[in-house]
Amino acid sequence: MAARKSGLTIGLVPTMGALHEGHGALMRRAREETGYVVATIFVNPTQFDRPDDFQKYPRRIETDVAFCERLGVDAVFAPEVEEVYPSGEISAAVEVADISSRLEGEFRPGHFRGVATVVAKLFNIVAADRAYFGEKDAQQLAVIQKMVADLNFPVTIVPVPTVRESDGLAMSSRNQRLTPEQRRIAPVLYQALCAAEGSIRGGSRLTAEIKGEALNLLSRNPAMRIEYLEVVDPAAFQPVETVAGDVRITAAVWLGDVRLIDNVLVRC
Ligand code: PAJ
Repeated sequence: MAARKSGLTIGLVPTMGALHEGHGALMRRAREETGYVVATIFVNPTQFDRPDDFQKYPRRIETDVAFCERLGVDAVFAPEVEEVYPSGEISAAVEVADISSRLEGEFRPGHFRGVATVVAKLFNIVAADRAYFGEKDAQQLAVIQKMVADLNFPVTIVPVPTVRESDGLAMSSRNQRLTPEQRRIAPVLYQALCAAEGSIRGGSRLTAEIKGEALNLLSRNPAMRIEYLEVVDPAAFQPVETVAGDVRITAAVWLGDVRLIDNVLVRC
């Protein structure tokens, strides 16, 4: 690659498209910190546990490419599925044990194997020096950090804070699938996480008590189905019973057939 030959550092921003300001924050950071920014847009079939979610995932490549151009991205890599998985199936895969089986991994079997494998492929294809990931998907970020550490990938992982709408809802490509009524309720997820954080800041250390506050808020909205809400240690995503250091409060809920996830880091 010419950029590499001319000594520029390469920044990679992997995405599945339907780009919004959350992705924008990653691109801006990459633009600030590296000489040549590559964004990838690929709706990766192997990380979807439900075929309908894969099919309904929003795709709008032209708008996305224009978005990347506006943010000063130097190259967009938007391959077809056949280009990434030429033989349909691949035999090699990256499995980051333990952490991949918890929470998101428990409810979306095979998800993190698909994510880790495609990200490993993108690291090799792009040969990036730095790669940018959002804290919005904190467990994914932790899986990638563990993969890079355990397998000595020569890439620096840069975490970027979650970008939110003005009412607190974390930006997500899936938000566009919410009905107006669901969109009105959706910010309750973040409010519940903040309530749990408030409970820790107020001195609570017992997870059951901390979760209680958040679950109370969530369950007031019958349209919102709670999949999980946990207080975990931020590296391994292992649920804790008592808070004795930094924790992440992380949750997944359903509104109709749209699944939303969010989390907050609480430093103690
Ligand atoms: P996607 O959901 O498109 O997200 C791409 C990147 O943008 C991820 O690192 C994600 O955490 C980040 N992101 C999304 N919403 C954000 C927000 N509101 N604030 C900050 N960052 C946000 O995550 C994936 O795609 C895929 O799993 C991928 C890593 C590309 C592998 O296929």
